Amino acid sequence: MDPNDARVILEEERSRGLELIRAADTLEELEVAKVVALGRKGRFAEVQRALGSFDHDDRRTLGMRANEVRDELQHAFDERREDLHRAGEDALLDADRVDVTLPGRRPRPGSLHPLAIVERRIVEVFTRMGYRVVEGPEIEDEWHNFEALNIPPDHPARTMKDSLYVDVPGLLLRTETSAAQIRTMESHDPPIHVVCPGRVFRQETPDATHLPVFHQVECLAVDEGISFADLKGTLEAFAHEMFGGDRRVRLNPDYFPFVEPGAQVAVSCFICDGVGCPTCGNGWIELLGAGMVHPKVLENCGYDSERYTGFAFGLGIERVAMIQYGVPDMRMFIEGDVRFLAQFQGAA
Ligand code: PHE
Repeated sequence: MDPNDARVILEEERSRGLELIRAADTLEELEVAKVVALGRKGRFAEVQRALGSFDHDDRRTLGMRANEVRDELQHAFDERREDLHRAGEDALLDADRVDVTLPGRRPRPGSLHPLAIVERRIVEVFTRMGYRVVEGPEIEDEWHNFEALNIPPDHPARTMKDSLYVDVPGLLLRTETSAAQIRTMESHDPPIHVVCPGRVFRQETPDATHLPVFHQVECLAVDEGISFADLKGTLEAFAHEMFGGDRRVRLNPDYFPFVEPGAQVAVSCFICDGVGCPTCGNGWIELLGAGMVHPKVLENCGYDSERYTGFAFGLGIERVAMIQYGVPDMRMFIEGDVRFLAQFQGAA
């Protein structure tokens, strides 16, 4: 090899090597670039091998230049390797990055059913007044559901049209929680102060204001000297607790076989404050049936009706929930639509 050629080759190999090293995008490509630039089969190695055949001066100058070029290439290689290494680590760290400031994925909390919320609130008002909670069976016999409650055999509630009988003679799904009055009085002596929440069943076609299965809370108080004034006072206390301090209570005569006298109880509208609005119409919302326990009912349970008196009332939980939450259709309570139910999150 001619020393002049060797000089040219050295410079060519220098710039070609530097270019290859800088262009390498991965550690693998960089290794290849190094082999091409400095490997034993490359042109740089050829020049090195030829050095021995040059005369003293050329050997010295070209040898020095060859060392410089090799050092420069080696340096460029080391630097590039360092860069690629760091980039690789950064990419790994990036991929693994955990953003501790991201909000966590919380489990979606459920909510109490609106009917459960209302039932709990009603029951709580009474338990605070000292009432005890009792529960009766959902399948009742005709004695507890009708006869003892002074509902005569020719009463329309007794027909297959209104009540849901089961296929055991004499048994039916209870049509009102009033049946629990009888069971309580049969098994306990006065004084009695109980509330009975529960499901009741009637032969109904579901529509906006009727369901074949719905819920009531029954209230019963029996003792010596209980008067109609106690009933009214209790209803007022309940209305204040449940619907707010300014509620007034109105009683209109009504008939239920198991009370005498009986009343239909309305509460002054808690939406318009009794002025009159689309919810109440005339300022009053009819909420409950009530009355003084009929002497015959007391006698049916073995109580001396000369000595003891009592009052009872019952209200529909669906009705209260519809009015309180502005629910326009009773069927919404049983459709299980989460968009409806989720609105009651945290309402209890
Ligand atoms: N049980 C009656 C009803 O279903 C309500 C009521 C209860 C009326 C107690 C008077 C006394 O409507």
